[in-house]
Amino acid sequence: MLVNKYHKITKEEIEKIKKVSSKNVRNEDILVEEETLFCFNKLKKFIKAKENITIGIEGAFRSIEEQEKILDELTNTYGKEYSKKYVAMPKTSEHHTALAIDFVIEHDGKYPKDNDEIMKDKDIYEKLHKYLSNFGFILRYPKGKEKITKYNYEPWHIRYVGKSAKEIEEKNLTLEEYYIKKNSGILLVNKEKDMTSRDVVNIVSKTLGIKKVGHTGTLDPLATGLLVITIGDATKIGELLITSDKEYIAQFKLGVLTDTLDITGNILKTKEIKKHIDINQVLKYFTKTYMQEVPIFSAVKIKGKKLYEYARENKKIDLPKKEVTIKKLELLEEKDNTYKIKCLVSKGTYIRSLIRDIGEYLNTYATMTSLERISQNKLNLKDAYKVDEIKNNKFKIIPIKDALNIKKITIKDNLLFKVKNGAKINLNEEEKVLFLDQYNNPIAIYEGDGRAWKVFS
Ligand code: DAL
Ligand code: ZN
Repeated sequence: MLVNKYHKITKEEIEKIKKVSSKNVRNEDILVEEETLFCFNKLKKFIKAKENITIGIEGAFRSIEEQEKILDELTNTYGKEYSKKYVAMPKTSEHHTALAIDFVIEHDGKYPKDNDEIMKDKDIYEKLHKYLSNFGFILRYPKGKEKITKYNYEPWHIRYVGKSAKEIEEKNLTLEEYYIKKNSGILLVNKEKDMTSRDVVNIVSKTLGIKKVGHTGTLDPLATGLLVITIGDATKIGELLITSDKEYIAQFKLGVLTDTLDITGNILKTKEIKKHIDINQVLKYFTKTYMQEVPIFSAVKIKGKKLYEYARENKKIDLPKKEVTIKKLELLEEKDNTYKIKCLVSKGTYIRSLIRDIGEYLNTYATMTSLERISQNKLNLKDAYKVDEIKNNKFKIIPIKDALNIKKITIKDNLLFKVKNGAKINLNEEEKVLFLDQYNNPIAIYEGDGRAWKVFS
């Protein structure tokens, strides 16, 4: 659970956390999450035995009201600039989770009373920090990470994270960084009509509180279906996710041509369809590799300018052609002059262009009326989440290691060190390889010849 300025906790969530009562060093009643208290007591016992130092809890769980009070008090004593660096706004404090503990050090039966006194124990704190991870705790606001945590160094504030503590410590991460790593991966979304691909990215980014979010293979507002969203480190592997075929269900109408090649555009030409059309023969003809003209309303760049910008400015431009392969075309429905087809096509194929070409071949016009993507690189629409499910936090991210169909190798020690730094290594593989560390985290993708392709951390 991540709680910070960008990840607020709600009253309901706070109430749900199971807390047990205990006493702080001033003998006041306090609440702490059950496992957190259990592990803290083990840590305390260990420190006493090992260092002959007594530690105690100054505070743990705080309600929203208590946080408000503490913020007011500190602001009154030290001023706003100071308090902002040490006390979280209500609903953004980790103390609401009951997983955070502020601990203090005993001197002759007494404990420090304020921040100034606590800071005198700086060296003792530093000595004790190395024991935290053995008991499932991390130092939550470490020195040198202020820009990420947004708080000053707090040697007393520790956070229970359980088993993850070792990995977080070993990699010198903050909980913020660890959270992005753990959420790095892809999310399959079933895009609705009239939404841009960017809209979906923004929704995912907001829901997760992660800025690094992208997508592969744009779907226009008219199109629906599978949109692959990349999160965190996965934003670096977009190219690997779009290399293979895509499958669509498209509908088109014969006898109409629009400027955008789909029904959202302005109608340019119409033609009455008189004779019967043997569409199956046409689909058979188009199941081939050919040079396809890119639609003018597309983001393809010519001389540094996107094609649709030329179109908007009414400028003439020779449209580029790209080799595409139409692998499978299947007629699903046929009614009046409207057809529904299923298409399996190579990367870079424009279905709108294919439909235009079908129209031309039949000596008439054709316009796409709907488009749904059903698969991309073994990723399937039936596993995708609706935007509403995402907004309600009902989704699962596929980790990078599961999203990629490439060889995976777990490494450690010297090789791990080299790969982390993107150094050239001895490797003799046919294809790219994904290296994982002992925690199953992706470290880097290498070319088969031992050159780094992408390094993640
Ligand atoms: N001292 C930490 C930032 C809090 O108030 O939650
Ligand atoms: Zn604290």
